[in-house]
Amino acid sequence: MAPDFEQESTEGTIRFHEWLGDSWGILFSHPADFTPVCTTELGAVARMKGDFDRRDVKVIGLSVDPVASHRGWSADIAETQGAALNFPLIADADRKVAQLYDMIHPEASATATVRSVFVLDPQKKVRLMLTYPASTGRNFDELLRVIDSLQLTEYRKVATPANWQHGDEVVILPSVSDEDARRLFPAGYRTLKPYLRMTQEPAVSMEA
Ligand code: BEZ
Repeated sequence: MAPDFEQESTEGTIRFHEWLGDSWGILFSHPADFTPVCTTELGAVARMKGDFDRRDVKVIGLSVDPVASHRGWSADIAETQGAALNFPLIADADRKVAQLYDMIHPEASATATVRSVFVLDPQKKVRLMLTYPASTGRNFDELLRVIDSLQLTEYRKVATPANWQHGDEVVILPSVSDEDARRLFPAGYRTLKPYLRMTQEPAVSMEA
């Protein structure tokens, strides 16, 4: 389970689980305000907000600086990135959330968070954790790809193969019997091995 917390943010006090509601979520941390790579990352996520909304994913950033600092930094993001912050940025000045989520690597810095990502499902279970080096900006298209894969598994009983992209075939979950597979995938499927059955990507409508 993703730990719950209450913390200040650029959009007021956040009670994390309540704020997530029944949505999917992405929580991602930054080493500090006014750092170059983070500035580009927050701009990128702001420009992709519609992509996250369409997938029912709420995004929230975190940096270990106070709200006043976040506000000053937001102005720089709007000025340089072609998009203003349109999601909350947690002001984790007391590092409460950073410690709860183990976002501080003591051998990298005693105080600054590393570049962590947590993807949460609507039951608030952590479905993915990533840790990037501070000097490497994250690939948010890859996070969308993972969300699409998780939602295909959750709602359509398929998994996604190596390097999968939309339009590629998907893998029928091994837990689905052949009888159920014929019903669930009426367009058919290919059996390469009894445990390796490929089918066309089904549409996702967020219903199990
Ligand atoms: C940063 O923007 O956070 C950063 C850039 C280079 C090295 C480390 C961190």
